[in-house]
Amino acid sequence: MKSSKTSRRHHSGPVRIGLLLVLAAFLFFSPSCKHEPLVDPGNLFGTGNTGGGDPDPVDTCDPNTVYFDQQILPLLISNCAVPGCHNTATDDNDHIRITSYATLMQSGIVQDGDLWDAITDNDPDDIMPRPPQAPLTPAQIALIGQWIQQGTQNNTCVSACDTANVTYSGTIAPLVQARCQGCHSGATPQGGLNFTSWQVLNSVAMDGRLAGAVQHQATFASMPPTGPMLPQCHIDQFLIWINEGAPQN
Ligand code: HEC
Repeated sequence: MKSSKTSRRHHSGPVRIGLLLVLAAFLFFSPSCKHEPLVDPGNLFGTGNTGGGDPDPVDTCDPNTVYFDQQILPLLISNCAVPGCHNTATDDNDHIRITSYATLMQSGIVQDGDLWDAITDNDPDDIMPRPPQAPLTPAQIALIGQWIQQGTQNNTCVSACDTANVTYSGTIAPLVQARCQGCHSGATPQGGLNFTSWQVLNSVAMDGRLAGAVQHQATFASMPPTGPMLPQCHIDQFLIWINEGAPQN
């Protein structure tokens, strides 16, 4: 193994900051995130959207800020808290559990630079996620870089959520990509379900497992399996799409 954990930790500060700047610039020009403009401050409080709570009609997300709850945690859960990896006390590797802000910061990997080094490593023996899982995309890496640069905040916002125009291509596919595909894609997808295929998602929509899983109903496996329940608005979007017959529209 060429680069040990210890040597990776010793990248010099300027190199890392330089990398972050490049990635932040990339992110700035990439269309990864579309947000409505900020609303008047009177509407900033009230509904949280991190735990199957109220509908969230108002957008409080600043497009220049990266939010841990909405952008970083779902990404980490879907790609790192895969069963057998960084998800439970018994499965954890190197005592690194990536299931919440608290467990992530407890592990120390953000503070000492190991998280950044692991997702950007060129060595297949060291990169995270490990093959056969796909590496993070450049846009996902840039997002994490921007979050680190902004001070690794434990922050949250309420994003506008459209339940009036729910389509597969505009609503469901991006939602599944952000929240589910880290586990449900690749050669050995979790549960044997590869959701990069519409057909597979349609089949679990039609047999009732999708609705049961995202609503955490007793006879189904709860999805996502770790971290908070999906925001109520996203659950509603799934249910609307399922009721329409889960079309490929
Ligand atoms: C951290 C990994 C992970 C993430 C993220 C994840 N899943 Fe799963 N999923 C699994 C595993 C593991 C199983 C198999 C569970 C079992 O059989 O007990 C599974 C099974 C399922 C099933 C079948 C459930 C059943 O009871 O048969 C559905 C439907 C499903 N997932 C949907 C989703 C959706 C939708 C999302 C995103 C909102 C999602 N999953 C996110 C790991 C994940």
